[in-house]
Amino acid sequence: MTRPFELCGVPLRGRVLNGSGTFDAVAAHRAFGDELLEAFPFDAFVSKTITVEPREGNPPPRLWESPAGLINSIGLPNKGVAGFLREDLPRLGELPVPLVVSVMGFSRGELGALVAAAGERDEVEMLELNVSCPNVETGLVMGADPAETAAALEAVRPLTEKPLIVKLTPSATDPPAVAAAAEGVGADAISLVNTLRGMALDPRTRRPWLGAGTGGLSGPAIRPVALAQVAAVAERVRIPVIGMGGIASGRDAHDFLAAGADYVAVGTETFRDPTAGRRIASELNVISREERGFSEAAVT
Ligand code: FUM
Repeated sequence: MTRPFELCGVPLRGRVLNGSGTFDAVAAHRAFGDELLEAFPFDAFVSKTITVEPREGNPPPRLWESPAGLINSIGLPNKGVAGFLREDLPRLGELPVPLVVSVMGFSRGELGALVAAAGERDEVEMLELNVSCPNVETGLVMGADPAETAAALEAVRPLTEKPLIVKLTPSATDPPAVAAAAEGVGADAISLVNTLRGMALDPRTRRPWLGAGTGGLSGPAIRPVALAQVAAVAERVRIPVIGMGGIASGRDAHDFLAAGADYVAVGTETFRDPTAGRRIASELNVISREERGFSEAAVT
């Protein structure tokens, strides 16, 4: 398989990743067998975020569909780092694409422990630091402020040589400043946006619908916000930018690339269509070929 692209030194066959937590590759492999591996929908796979300790996640209900969007309040359920490394990582290591492990720490010490433990495993090509989860207490603290982000990254940077991607929240006052702070202390790439904090009321009781009260809004509803933030961050940093936020078609992906992203990630659309990554990649290829055709025609 040819891998003409390169993200942080890791060769990739294309430019479409998944958004963390939006595609369970282990369950999909179980359901679809090796067919999934033969036609894997993404060019690199980003795991669901793991934490040091196992987590049950937030109380139900955890989802609310809003116009052109989805509010989730999942709360990072996961097996904890030990369970993940023992049970899931060997299976994720069988995927035909590079693996990015997403980690979230409730303190810099926890983040460091996660980076060190996952970073030393051969299956792991890159790490994504999720400093942008709106669904857990203090989930946004590290990523909302440039100084906090820099301090977190400075603490963990010496613990691995693997590339570190920092995933930003759209709720920061100044996302480009957060991205620049991360770049300044050794981030290898920036991904954005995570979800925007949102709320829905139960139509009968007028009380919050979601068990945790609020959640994170994703999907086409946030695409213009994401596009603006990706453009602003790409303008500010030199490291690669992975753009996401409501991408549902090759045209959407192309917009993010045109706005300055180097790669794109597909999240919420994958819930509707688990093969969306592949469809979007092939639509993107058609658009890119058409564009090349136009520019070649223009010079001949
Ligand atoms: O609640 C969740 O599990 C989502 C995490 C995130 O948006 O980072």
